[in-house]
This record gives sequence, structure tokens and C-alpha cells, in this order.
Amino acid sequence: MKTKVLVSLLSDGQVHSGERLAEELGVSRTAVWKQVRRAAAEGFEIETVRGRGYKLVTPVDLLDAGVILDGLVESARNSICLTVLDEVDSTNTEILRQISDGVSGVPVAIADCQTMGRGRRGRPWRSPRGENLYLSAGLTFHGDFSVLDGLSLVLGVAVAETLEELGLPGVRLKWPNDIFMPDGKLGGILVELQGELQEGVIRVIAGIGINVHMSCADDVDQAWSSLDRVSTQAGWSRNRIASALIGTLLHSADIFAQKGFGAFQDAWQSRDLFNGQQLIAKGGELAGVGRGIDGQGNYLVEGESGVVPVRAGEISLRVAR
Ligand code: BTN
Repeated sequence: MKTKVLVSLLSDGQVHSGERLAEELGVSRTAVWKQVRRAAAEGFEIETVRGRGYKLVTPVDLLDAGVILDGLVESARNSICLTVLDEVDSTNTEILRQISDGVSGVPVAIADCQTMGRGRRGRPWRSPRGENLYLSAGLTFHGDFSVLDGLSLVLGVAVAETLEELGLPGVRLKWPNDIFMPDGKLGGILVELQGELQEGVIRVIAGIGINVHMSCADDVDQAWSSLDRVSTQAGWSRNRIASALIGTLLHSADIFAQKGFGAFQDAWQSRDLFNGQQLIAKGGELAGVGRGIDGQGNYLVEGESGVVPVRAGEISLRVAR
């Protein structure tokens, strides 16, 4: 976004004179006017107030790496390598590239928009500019693949806890790892594996999408929600959500590495959207009532022949390309 500095100067919603903006940007007043026109073409609604200057009509929630880092707990600030991008194909792919390039620390990528955001089971993930949070982190675990059992459910708990800490009650988890509010899906998680693995070292890319300001998504084929929609809280800030989420994510990944999924079972279960609901599983082979999860993160369905665990096999745990 070429006009990011101008837009951030205007982001307080006040009228700014062309003269002052020219000074702050270090350009001529004509150049300011050109940037205003470009910002309008990028979708920002800027009003020209006659004789006074320019004013941003619709509020913006700009991503800012400095603000995100300032909002982090110190341990997280010291351990991550944060990249904030204006635009990217997919933040998961970006992390994959960074790992291949030998990034040091825990790579975390956040983008203002994704041109090829992806969801589970090969679906696209709608990623409009400036509206939502698109965040991925590269996490390292040691052992064989079984150490990853339940990881995506753990990430769901981390997202739910973060949103609750930020003041949103009633976040639900839909097995295996969708983030739900009563009116629909609020977010999703895509866990992917890095292609080349060292012996005993497993690199995982954890991608998280949370709908923050999204107000229109005609092409999404299921009920969806957003933070602006479900909460009366004014001014959700993507920077603030990102800081809180990174902190919880790293902390949860540490506990998971030490103690495994068992440490998160109750936290997941208490937010279970399916609990007590009539369910159909395994493509129609199994019908019964939702009874929560077992110690490996399998979903338990109580049917005519007793309680049957449904394996978490449909979780998108696949080799990323
Ligand atoms: C789902 O289908 O529910 C998972 C959606 C995951 C979307 C996030 S947005 C950040 C990261 N980058 C992607 O391309 N996908 C994930």
C-alpha cells in the first residue's frame, strides 16, 4: 500500500491541512493531493474539507509491526522474528519460505491481505485488505509425528482464550478447530507441515484467520461472524489482537510440547459446540450424540452401539507445497 504513511497520519479521523501533511510526509502539497487520490483509489474514503484539508471518513485499523512488538510479553518479543506484510499470497506460504531461507527465532507473519489465502480441505480463505487478521507462525516440536496429536485443537483453545481475554465472552470451538460464535464461524486454523524434515525435528506452520471487521462476504458458503458483529466493544484493533494471540500461542505451544494434549482437554471441552448435539459422522456411517473429546483429541459420538471415537484425520495436517 503506497499510501500507508498518509493513511496512518489521517487515521485519527481529524482534519489535517495539506500544508501540514506535506511537511510530515516531506513532499509538496501537489504530491499530497496525488496521494489522497491514490488512497481513494485503494478504497479509503477521504473527504476534502474546503479550506481546511483532508479527513478520513471511515476508520482504519492499520497493521503496525512496532505496535505489535510493543504489545508483546517480553519472552515472546525476544523469541519471535516478526514480518508484517502489506500483501502476500498466503502467510502460511510466507512462513514456509522463511523457514527454507533459514530464519532464526520463531517466524511469525501477518498480512494486511492475502491473494491466495487458503483454508482447510483446499478451500480458499477470504482475505480482504484491512479487514481481518491473517497470521501464521512456524513452530518446532521434537519427536515423531505422534507428538502433534491434538495440536490443532490446542491452537483453537489459544485463539478462544485470547479473544476471551480481550473481552469477548462465549467463544465456542467446533471440532476439530473452527472458532465459532452463535451466528457463525469467526475464524479458522490451518496446520501444515514443512516439507523437508530433519530427523526428530518437526516444523509446523500454524495459520490462523480471524474475522475482525469483515462486513460483507457474499461468496462464503456458510454462516460467518466477525468481532465487530458480535461484540459491542468499540474499535477492535488487529495489532492488539495479534500481540495477545502471539503471546498465548507461544505459551500454549510450550505447554503442549512439555505436557501434550491432556493439558488442554478440559479447556477445549468446555467450549465444545457439538456437545449434546445430534451428529452424523464418517460421511453418514455413524449417527449419535456429541460427547466431547478423548485424550488424543478424537471426537466422541454416542450412537446405538456405544461411544465411538471419530479420528481427527480430517484435520488439514498435510505437507505444504
Ligand atoms: C479453515 O478453513 O477454517 C482454516 C482457515 C485458515 C486461514 C488462515 S489465514 C492465515 C493463514 N494463511 C492462510 O493461507 N491460511 C491461514
